[in-house]
Amino acid sequence: MATLDLFSLEPAQPDTAAHQRLLALREQLHAHGHAYYVLDAPTVPDAEYDRLFRELQTLEAVHPEWASADSPTQRVGGKPLDAFTSVRHAVPMLSIRTETDTESTGAQAFDARVRKELELSDSDAAVEYVAELKFDGLAMNLRYQQGVLVQATTRGDGEYGEDVTQNIRTIGQIPLRLPEGVPPVLEVRGEVYMRRDDFEALNERQRNRIAAGEKGEKTFVNPRNAAAGAVRQLDPGIAAQRPLSFFAYGLGEVTPATAGGPQFGTHFAMLQTLKSWGFPVAAEVDIARGATELIAYHQHIGARRDTLPFDIDGVVYKVNSLALQQRLGFVTREPRWAVAHKYPAQEQLTTVLAIDVQVGRTGKLTPVAKLAPVFVGGVTVTNATLHNEDEARRKDVRVGDTVIVRRAGDVIPEVVSVVAEKRVADAAQFTMPHICPVCQSAAVREEGEADYRCTGGLFCSAQRKQAILHFAQRRAVEVEGLGDKLVEQLVDANVIRNLPDLYRLGLNALASLDRMADRSALNILEALEKSKRTTLPRFLFGLGIRHVGEATAKELARHFGTLDAVMDASEETLLGVSDVGPIVAKSIRTFFEQPHNREVVEQLRACGVSWPEGAPADAGPKPLAGMTLVLTGTLPTLGRDAAKDLIEAAGGKVSGSVSKKTSYVVAGSEAGSKLDKARELGLAVLDEAGLLELLK
Ligand code: IVH
Repeated sequence: MATLDLFSLEPAQPDTAAHQRLLALREQLHAHGHAYYVLDAPTVPDAEYDRLFRELQTLEAVHPEWASADSPTQRVGGKPLDAFTSVRHAVPMLSIRTETDTESTGAQAFDARVRKELELSDSDAAVEYVAELKFDGLAMNLRYQQGVLVQATTRGDGEYGEDVTQNIRTIGQIPLRLPEGVPPVLEVRGEVYMRRDDFEALNERQRNRIAAGEKGEKTFVNPRNAAAGAVRQLDPGIAAQRPLSFFAYGLGEVTPATAGGPQFGTHFAMLQTLKSWGFPVAAEVDIARGATELIAYHQHIGARRDTLPFDIDGVVYKVNSLALQQRLGFVTREPRWAVAHKYPAQEQLTTVLAIDVQVGRTGKLTPVAKLAPVFVGGVTVTNATLHNEDEARRKDVRVGDTVIVRRAGDVIPEVVSVVAEKRVADAAQFTMPHICPVCQSAAVREEGEADYRCTGGLFCSAQRKQAILHFAQRRAVEVEGLGDKLVEQLVDANVIRNLPDLYRLGLNALASLDRMADRSALNILEALEKSKRTTLPRFLFGLGIRHVGEATAKELARHFGTLDAVMDASEETLLGVSDVGPIVAKSIRTFFEQPHNREVVEQLRACGVSWPEGAPADAGPKPLAGMTLVLTGTLPTLGRDAAKDLIEAAGGKVSGSVSKKTSYVVAGSEAGSKLDKARELGLAVLDEAGLLELLK
């Protein structure tokens, strides 16, 4: 086989049909590749691309003398290397000064420095900047000669970098060949990075490899780390399997500076030109005038940071005019015309102090990593859920481990991974307990389920506490002021053993609790009294039947009208309710088959918990079918929700606004503008008694 000189640019080529075909294939594959990788708008199905690709590979195998550095086939990666060659950069690769002040003042300080250097006074116009994203990857220099990619080098120490051309060729977003008319020597600089979804998928593959016993495989801690590993991979075949991306943001050497190449007046114009040559340029690039617009950009991107498909650790501001950039020049290794303005870190290292197992309302055991407090993503984090046994195993988090904790946006903090090198020698693997850590009942994991559950039911104080909190929450019967601290005390002191006990609480029992003032005790009793008047959906939801959320509870109430009808419904009947499938039907049935659950319901009723019951939706008449009612003001006995439930059960709709289409307006005391509007439109107005009459 002829040796392949990747740098010979235009060897004489024969004008045969086979060669014409080869050139046409390269052309087509370049165009399809650009559409797919850079524009994200594929022009042919993958299979068609593969077919063309294989045809080209075959032609090149038959005619090794036609090999070319810019052929799309070069993207799959060549032979492994022993080491990378060190390359001196034609133009040093500088870094930029980092403004660590993550507040707006960071942008002000930069603008003030630039204005001072340029000797601008307050009356001079605002300086124009280009604001860009600061990608969290690796800087790369791409050298093109006569429009063909001939070399890709890492930044290294800024003066010398490593030749990683083989690996970089495998990045679909990087053009191997540029259009006619580009400068004969052109160096484009930018960032090689890995998208978050590509990173997750790569780690998933790596985990499977490790699980399959493949030696030498590891997972990566973050996309940056994975990208760096791929770029410095000696075997380009492996690098080709690592999904990397690229954004261009600058130039290196360009010669001759004048001949052929466009004359860029501004950094922004240069970026637009790079885009027109086929380089990916981030869509978020923007022009900003003066400190105020820099601050606005920093805030705008900061608010969208978590919706970007890749990691950024800040934004970069650059003086737009290239003439001004030249005037500003450099200090040591940093340009005076650019600055990186950071955001607070979203990932931090911390240590695992313990792994606790918490018991939820339905008995679900959840392993939770207790962490040494760490400030990440703007808050102090001390806990991170490990979700379940499989998840805890997958991450293999152990007590004493150093872990990476991530908190992005409002998402709950998570342990991303363990720093393997820092594991202490005797760290024991976490195992899920097979007994409940609270009540010592057996904990079991059912076939096909991810969770272990405590089988203690309401014998388990943890489940009892959660069940009470669930019942008392705002969306259920709502007992104002009954929070987790109080429930904890009440259950631990054995004052409350079940839900009905709540309504048997006396002032003495309450006031005797730690830190409970008489006034607060009275407030709780009042809130309990108030909670007795509820609605059927709220009560049903509050019982905490597995798989019965708010929406299902509403449907059940609407369908059956009364609690007794729900309690006695067979699985088959339950399946007739919209929203109820076999699992939910079975769960409801099982719940009401337990004598102790029926007992709880009876006792709650006996304590005075009550709700208006309606006619079953499907069986009974629907006096309000097709009508729309509007509720306004306070009704004398019915709560707003109860009235709504009754109307809906009778086939009516409840709307928030009065219009000509409104059938009735039901007005209580202190009815406001809605009542006025109803009068204006001459609509029928009812009071509570009138509504109840209508419902009959
Ligand atoms: S410009 C002379 N622009 O941040 C200016 N750098 O030290 C050269 N980076 O190593 C850099 N996003 O890897 C520039 N939009 C951006 C960037 C960016 C990320 C990286 C780059 C460089 C480091 C700055």
